[in-house]
Amino acid sequence: MAFPEDFRLISYLSRLEHAVRFPLSSSYPESMSTDTLFALAGEAHRAPFMQAVLDYPPLRGTPELLAAIATTYDRITPDDIISFAGADEAIYACFQMLLNAGDHAVVITPNYQSLESVPLSRCDVTGVTLDENNDWALDTEKVRAALRPETKVLVINFPHNPTGALISHQQLNELVDMCRARGIWIFSDEVYRLTEFDPADRLPQLADMYERGISLNVTSKAYGLPGLRIGWVACQDKAWMRDLERMKQYLSICNALPGEMLTTIALNARAPILERVMQRSRHQLTLLTTFLARYPHLFQLSLPKAGVLAFVRYTGAEGAQAFATQLVEQAGVMVIPSVAYASELTAVPEDFLRIGFGRANLEQALTEMGAWLDQRPS
Ligand SMILES: Cc1ncc(COP(=O)(O)O)c(C=O)c1O
Repeated sequence: MAFPEDFRLISYLSRLEHAVRFPLSSSYPESMSTDTLFALAGEAHRAPFMQAVLDYPPLRGTPELLAAIATTYDRITPDDIISFAGADEAIYACFQMLLNAGDHAVVITPNYQSLESVPLSRCDVTGVTLDENNDWALDTEKVRAALRPETKVLVINFPHNPTGALISHQQLNELVDMCRARGIWIFSDEVYRLTEFDPADRLPQLADMYERGISLNVTSKAYGLPGLRIGWVACQDKAWMRDLERMKQYLSICNALPGEMLTTIALNARAPILERVMQRSRHQLTLLTTFLARYPHLFQLSLPKAGVLAFVRYTGAEGAQAFATQLVEQAGVMVIPSVAYASELTAVPEDFLRIGFGRANLEQALTEMGAWLDQRPS
């Protein structure tokens, strides 16, 4: 299929997310107003923000933004960072610069579709599935078996969208060792990092630990600020970062200055912002698991280790896709059937639902869904 093919998940979301009463599918936690951000970060930030002149910021990001991002890493310096218009622009730019005809990439499935579709538009790609019957575990030997002499990049995403799965520290080290021995890059989508329910599960960032590690992050998930549209790439390889900079010259060129300023403020005051998100996520995951447990004949959940998404097996006779359609049409509650995660590379089970539990109206959405479920003929 010619690139760009339909981004199934984004199509589904764009068609419904802003039209339904209860979007019980969002991949991000409840956001906050600029007022609340100033209240959390300190009122002293308000006047400089309001008085800023709306010039173009520098291509890589303002020095203040790059310095704030650098404080979230151990080894990465401001010179090792380029900001983008969200994580999405960064994904596109990175694979355009990294992959060419004749190269090969290895990608985990299921996945956030651009992590597979953009590499596929450039070269041959092999998918390695997470194990649906074992809490979506990764078998690192499957990754090793997929590597070829021409493999240029391994693409990983832990914490994982949509399952909330993680790999162990030992597995991450194994992946780095096998890639380092072959000169393979690792593109690591870390947008859900800092949302782990057990902080001991938190993995180091690839850009800190591997000279060919490319770390991707954004304000959308752990910080709950998707509307800022500020993402970034961190990597120690200065020559490759200069290539990546060239790619951005043809895309957004630079970000919106208000987004960069508010991101700088948020990152410099991140402790209360992260805590606010995690407090709600913990509480709401309990609400969701309690709700799903009322319908053991319909739902099976393997608990997410991070994030605000639950990937729930639906065992009703009509199937997950028909269930999701009826639920949204009849009750105004939107969940996403796993066909939206179909892959060109491997089979992806079609009997799952993506349920987002991060939004403030979760309880109301579950009440609505429960009333609808309870009146259905059994
Ligand atoms: C794993 C993953 N990577 C990247 C993105 C893109 O993030 P953003 O839309 O904030 O650019 C998302 C968004 O849902 C995601 O889940």
